[in-house]
Amino acid sequence: MKTLTTINDCFLWRKQKNGFVGFVPTMGALHDGHLSLIKRSQSMCAFSVVSIYINPTQFAPGEDLELYPKTLDADLDHLNTLGVDAVFIPTDKEIYPDGSAGLNYQNQLFNKLEGKSRPHFFIGVTKVVSRLFDIIKPTHVFFGEKDAQQLRVIKQMIADLKYDIDLIPCPAVRDENGLALSSRNQYLSNNEQKTAACFYHSLMNVKYCLDQGERSSIKLKEHFKNGLNKCADIKIEYISIACSITLNEQPELVTGDVLISSAVFFKGVRLIDNFFYQSST
Ligand code: PAJ
Repeated sequence: MKTLTTINDCFLWRKQKNGFVGFVPTMGALHDGHLSLIKRSQSMCAFSVVSIYINPTQFAPGEDLELYPKTLDADLDHLNTLGVDAVFIPTDKEIYPDGSAGLNYQNQLFNKLEGKSRPHFFIGVTKVVSRLFDIIKPTHVFFGEKDAQQLRVIKQMIADLKYDIDLIPCPAVRDENGLALSSRNQYLSNNEQKTAACFYHSLMNVKYCLDQGERSSIKLKEHFKNGLNKCADIKIEYISIACSITLNEQPELVTGDVLISSAVFFKGVRLIDNFFYQSST
């Protein structure tokens, strides 16, 4: 595996590669969710490159930038075992030569859902992702449905900025209890992670009710809250039922293809999860 640390390294590596080049951007602390994206890239592309970069512009002051888990040696072992072609580990200077300046892009999806609680977030994510796209010049990129709004925002950015890149969505990987894998799960003990799986089961309660024909957003959200009430320590930040394309809320009746998504706090850790549903009414 080639280790790339500068833009020049990337340009030289990229110049010699013909055919599909798959790219998986990450912030490291790799788990099976990340590895599933990488395996997908390897199954579709002649070459696969992974970036590991904790992007400061997507963290607000007071968020967990300093605490964010760093497991570089273990990450590199995983990537070597998978036979990844290259890993890009840039410095802040390489990504942001002019401080935090960079792409000045926004779309109408930024201020919905996650954007309401974390207004800085998609500004930072699109800044770094567009910069990485310009450096790596991939033909394919792989993003997880675990971060459904991020996926949707990047899809829109690719269309708006006319990147010639195929975006491949990859399903969320979960632990055996149902909790979606996340680098931030490391902040919780094993027992706490088992309890946190209540979050997923409450979302699956909502899916069950949809399967039974319930279409009232208010009632569906009540089912979600009732599920979570079984775990007193979990606090809901939001539960949303929204059109999966526009991310506009459906406050009354659920219709068409929807994204059911939520953020909760558990033991001071913010967890997000979601599922897509075709309600066909
Ligand atoms: P990070 O949280 O490291 O995630 C990198 C990629 O892995 C994202 O596409 C994310 O959706 C995917 N992923 C995370 N957990 C997953 C799971 N349980 N199952 C499937 N895929 C999962 O997302 C980011 O980093 C950053 O915002 C980034 C895009 C790298 C920009 O800094």
